[in-house]
Order: sequence, then structure tokens, then C-alpha cells
Amino acid sequence: MSDPAPPVGRARRASFDPLPEWAGIATRLVHGTRRPELNAGAVVGPIYQTSTFHFPAAHSESADRGRVYLYTRLENPTLEGPTETIRQLEGGEEARLFSSGMGAISATILSLVRSGDEVVALRDLYGGTLDLLSELLPRFGVRVRWVTAAEAAVPEQVIRRGTRLVWLESPTNPTLSVVDLRRWAEVADDAGALLAVDNTFATPINQNPLALGADLVVHSATKYLAGHSDVLSGAVVGPSALLERIDAKGYLGSSPDPFAAFLLARSLKTLSLRVARQNENGRRVVDALARHPAVRQVFYPGRNDPREEEIAARQMRGRGGMISLSLRGGPSAVDPFLRRLRFVHVASSLGSVESLASVPAITSHRHLTAAELADRGIDASMVRLSLGVEEPGDLVRDLTEALDAAGHRSEAPL
Ligand SMILES: Cc1ncc(COP(=O)(O)O)c(C=O)c1O
Repeated sequence: MSDPAPPVGRARRASFDPLPEWAGIATRLVHGTRRPELNAGAVVGPIYQTSTFHFPAAHSESADRGRVYLYTRLENPTLEGPTETIRQLEGGEEARLFSSGMGAISATILSLVRSGDEVVALRDLYGGTLDLLSELLPRFGVRVRWVTAAEAAVPEQVIRRGTRLVWLESPTNPTLSVVDLRRWAEVADDAGALLAVDNTFATPINQNPLALGADLVVHSATKYLAGHSDVLSGAVVGPSALLERIDAKGYLGSSPDPFAAFLLARSLKTLSLRVARQNENGRRVVDALARHPAVRQVFYPGRNDPREEEIAARQMRGRGGMISLSLRGGPSAVDPFLRRLRFVHVASSLGSVESLASVPAITSHRHLTAAELADRGIDASMVRLSLGVEEPGDLVRDLTEALDAAGHRSEAPL
């Protein structure tokens, strides 16, 4: 007898041959989702670049309908491999892909809250999430309570009964502060709130929020997961019972294009290699730049606070390739520094194979007032670096020589 058919639409989940238990992460990333029997034996599966699919039983409402693909906004075979890989990486029951990180974040939040609810959110979130929470949610009667870095250390004093959703990032952007996710998960759980963590900066190679007790993990897959600055995508991972509530019918419409999913699948195969190099580049660059006289402060997970160092050592397997620098020469030192860089592109975004530099005060955090920037420890002399996979020595040399050009004559006011 055949298996019962799953319902039409997104509930369908492709099955992939299980790998031996002893297969490690790099092996799993390369071999975890192959299905040559379905793909004419091709080692690399095809892109199903179609918006719609033949409907074999046009007038039938039979259970067999659940076995076919209907429409790419709901499902497409190209999406199944990368969805499964990300599910496994984060250790969740189910995963879903979106057309961008903001697609994943907005679908998650809008699907889980309702009028009258309260959301608790870290103040130091990615700007797009911040805007969504502060501008859109209040229009639908959802209250957002913002948590400062100091309050983030004592979640017991922040979350109360009636909080529906808690939204965190760790490490934070751009000061790379570390939040104790296990502690937040316990407190959220006690209060009956859901905890969602944006794990974009850490990557699933370095940190798994679900294993620390979070209910949901989201990614801008545009960053490390896709990793080559050439595709937008997003993902959410968590228990099936929650994923079923997150735009299961696809009416929010931010489904990924099959070509984007193909590029994501290609990139995921090298994720552990790329992140290992980015972790190494982070350590090497921090060691070298912290000693440079043009640098006033280096921001890196756990570096500026012993309590955060203890948390990072416990919840992160690697500290990642994100670093921020505050320049001793003040805002006027920023341009000379950036102009001298040879391998580091001056561009927003992060997580790619090429190193990127941006100035948060005029890019990701440009919407904040001077007081709000100061409150978050951000000033116009701060440069955020996303280190790529270049040779560590080359990056150290490039950055050091550019800092030499930036100079360190005057201690400019903040
Ligand atoms: C931490 C974080 N989350 C979410 C996003 C949004 O992702 P996307 O640009 O793919 O919509 C970004 C983008 O920079 C980000 O840095």
C-alpha cells in the first residue's frame, strides 16, 4: 500500500538518503541532499526554473494531489536541498526558505503576533528588523518593548507574562556584544513567550540557538549561508508546529526564486570551510589591529567584557569574521583608511568570500539620531569589517597599511 499523501502545498518535504551517523559536518554539507536517481544521474541537480507545474489530475480532488508540485510560490524541487541543509545545520524539525532575510523575518513576526500582543526586542538589531518592529507592528496594535544592552544581561527583569515574542541577535551589530541565549530561552519559556534568534552573524557553524533553547532561528541567507554577494535569500528553522503557522499558505509572497535557491545550494557545500577561514581571519586581524596605534578600540565577540567572554566561550564554537574598529583619528580618519584598502571592498552587507568594510553610522544605522548612536556605542569613526576568505596575512597587511595611512595624530571627540 502506498504512503498517505501529504496535504497540498508547503507541507510536502522531500526525502534524502540518510548519511552514516559518523559523517561530519563538511561531508554532510557536500553529500547530505543528493538525489541523482531523480536528476538523470546528474551530480549537481537541475534548476527547476518554472513558475508552475503540470497538474496530472486536473479535475480531481483526490489525495494524489498532495504528491505533485503546484506552483513555485508554494514549492519547487530546487528549494528542497538547501532547505534541508539549513534545517540540519540548525538542528530543527522543519525549515523554510524566503526570498530575503527580511522576507523570513517579516513572515515570522507577522505570522506569530496579533493585535494586543507585546514583543520584546533587543535595541541593537539589524536596521530592517528594527524598522519593521518600530514602524509596522504598532500600526496593527502590537506593542514593542526595547531592551538595552544592560537590560539584556538580566532577562528576568525584562520579560513578563503576556510577552508573546522575544527577538534577539547575538553577536549584535555592529558592536558584537554577546547575549546569553540559554538564559533568555529559559526566562522566555517560563513566561510563555516564544524566543526567536537571528543567527545571521554567528552562522550555524559557530552557534545553534535552537540547541540553546530558542524556539525559532532565522537567517539572512544572503550573508554567510550564500556567501558570495550574489544572491538574496532568507530562512527560518524550528519545530513543525510553529513553522506551520509561518505563512504556510504563501500569501505573504516572499518565496525564493529557483535560481537563487540553486546558488544557495551551491554555496552551502563550502559553508564550513568558509566559516573556518573567516573565524581564523577574525582572530588574526583582531590580534594585529588591537596593537595598531590608529585603533582606539576593537569590537569582537567577548573581547571587551569578561562576562561576555564567558558566555561566548559557552555558546559559540567560533567567534566569526565580523569585527568593528573605532579609529583614534576620529571621523576624518575613516575616508583615508577606506581609500587605501586593496582587498577589502567598501560596501554594506557581510558574510561573503570577499572582505567588506562599511561605516555603520552612515549605512546600517543611518536612521538613528546622534544620541541613539552614542547610546549604542556607535560613532562616526567606527568601521565594521566583514572578513572574507582571503589569506590571513594579506588581510592583516592590507588593513595595517591602510591604518598607517589613516594616521593617529589627534584623539577626535566622539
Ligand atoms: C543580522 C541581519 N539580519 C537580517 C538581515 C536582512 O537580510 P536581507 O538583506 O537578506 O533581507 C540583515 C541584512 O543585512 C542582517 O545583517
